Amino acid sequence: MVNGLAIFTGNAHRSFAEDVARHLEMPLGNCEVFEFSNENTFVRFLDNVRERDVFLVQPIVPPVNTRLMELLIMIDAAKRASAGRITAVIPYYAYGRSDKKDQPRVPITARLVANFIEVAGASRVLTVDLHAGQIQGFFNIPLDELTAYPLLSNYFRTVNLAAPVVVATDVGGAKGARNVASRLGADLAIVNKRRTDNHERAEALTLIGDVSGRDCIIVDDEILTGGTIASSLRLLQQRGACTIHVACIHPLFADRAYELLDTPDIAELVFTDTVPLRRPFQRVPTRTLSIAPLIGDAIYRIHTGGSVGQLFQ
Ligand code: R5P
Repeated sequence: MVNGLAIFTGNAHRSFAEDVARHLEMPLGNCEVFEFSNENTFVRFLDNVRERDVFLVQPIVPPVNTRLMELLIMIDAAKRASAGRITAVIPYYAYGRSDKKDQPRVPITARLVANFIEVAGASRVLTVDLHAGQIQGFFNIPLDELTAYPLLSNYFRTVNLAAPVVVATDVGGAKGARNVASRLGADLAIVNKRRTDNHERAEALTLIGDVSGRDCIIVDDEILTGGTIASSLRLLQQRGACTIHVACIHPLFADRAYELLDTPDIAELVFTDTVPLRRPFQRVPTRTLSIAPLIGDAIYRIHTGGSVGQLFQ
């Protein structure tokens, strides 16, 4: 039990918030968060939060706009209840792919969401592997971005793979994949991916690197439809790859991902628990690596004024 610290959650991923609280050996705070029949969200803290260091654990996951509103309204309620400090703990930050104006007349929604969170009254943000690191700069309040790539590397150290190649699914994902590759002492390959339109279709065109006769680990920050992974998988098979593991940080898994990825062609599908799993897969072996202890440690350090960076050294 840590003095002055309070952890609450909305309805996005309760079991994860409970794991975080358990790691800190404290109970999750009591709070009601529900919708009236007119779809208006209501929040009420049932514990006193006056002058407390309040952490609101809420990944922005489907139904995304409802969960975002829950978070914003929880922040507002905590502020009006005189919380000492309010940290929005967002293990998955939605709208991260809308981070630039790359077509005429489109929004930068990742920035808009950052504005919402700030205006609602958050004092700081704690998050995990943003789609693009630059999103940090959309906030004018302190933000700590944790990374789960070391967790993936630590796991793959325990898997018996001979001289594996870590494969990034596009140039943007090369940084995360390189992080895993360097920790494993593995080679890196990069897929040249093309998105043709705004309809969630991805095409793996060519591969930079050699995977012939090698065990591969495809690494991505998030999987949604599974199109990127399925297309990369086919390309690696054509290039003579041996076994193919797939790993991601945020397993969003839309229905299509269950069609495309539930295949024995994937040796194992590895992901973290930043996002609740919609349902289990039937054919592909899966493994969940929990990031709750890392979030718990970061919360403890933020609360006690310790270094968060040291968690990764
Ligand atoms: C894209 O830049 C991301 O890193 C992922 O590759 C992408 O979000 C995956 O989406 P999907 O599973 O729908 O292909």
